[in-house]
Amino acid sequence: MSAPVVTIDGPSGAGKGTVTQLLARRLGWHLLDSGALYRLTALAALRGGVELADEAALASLALGLDAAFMPSPGNEPARVLLSGDDVTNEIRTETCGDAASQVAALPAVRAALLQRQRDFAQAPGLVADGRDMGTVVFPDAGAKIFLTASAEERAQRRYRQLLDLGQSVKLSALVADIEARDERDRTRAASPLKPADDAQVIDTTGLSVEEVLTQVVAASGQA
Ligand code: DC
Repeated sequence: MSAPVVTIDGPSGAGKGTVTQLLARRLGWHLLDSGALYRLTALAALRGGVELADEAALASLALGLDAAFMPSPGNEPARVLLSGDDVTNEIRTETCGDAASQVAALPAVRAALLQRQRDFAQAPGLVADGRDMGTVVFPDAGAKIFLTASAEERAQRRYRQLLDLGQSVKLSALVADIEARDERDRTRAASPLKPADDAQVIDTTGLSVEEVLTQVVAASGQA
């Protein structure tokens, strides 16, 4: 491995995105938002009229994905570009998230995105956010963290995020969606969502962002 890696895995809404950004900024390391790659593959498929079950066509889309992450000023998350088009907000919709969960279940799509993810491990280091960062993509990572939280709390967080993005959704529908997506991510044959054997599991239910960050910094071994 070319640079030190800290992996942060866990289900949707466990707080990975926020914590990954804060940790990467604090360490001055690169960041990999692997979920964005699955979301971009899904968006490219939706735009190109590719069936979400056409594994070969989706893998080829994933392999050729023209994706770019542009750092934003201040504390804003990076802008995400697909073929030069800013799709930062579009990939965060529930439609795109649901399609991403479907394409992420396909082994050929996962294989197509593997090397692209590993290429993010550059000096001085990488904080990688996903579902299989510690189990499959970076099995030799120096520190592996798995964040969890109750389904209700994760739905509440997602609800607030979507409201901030100006999307109107029902909380009850979100709880059902989150549970269905978790089930699919956990039970798929290809790289299912699960903590690596050597991962440190942190339950973020009821914790503030600062409290989670303190525990994650300690677990990362970079304090
Ligand atoms: O983290 P996210 O919500 O942006 O991820 C979108 C989807 O992609 C989610 O259903 C899980 C899947 N995913 C995955 O299977 N493996 C990853 N490393 C990251 C995301």
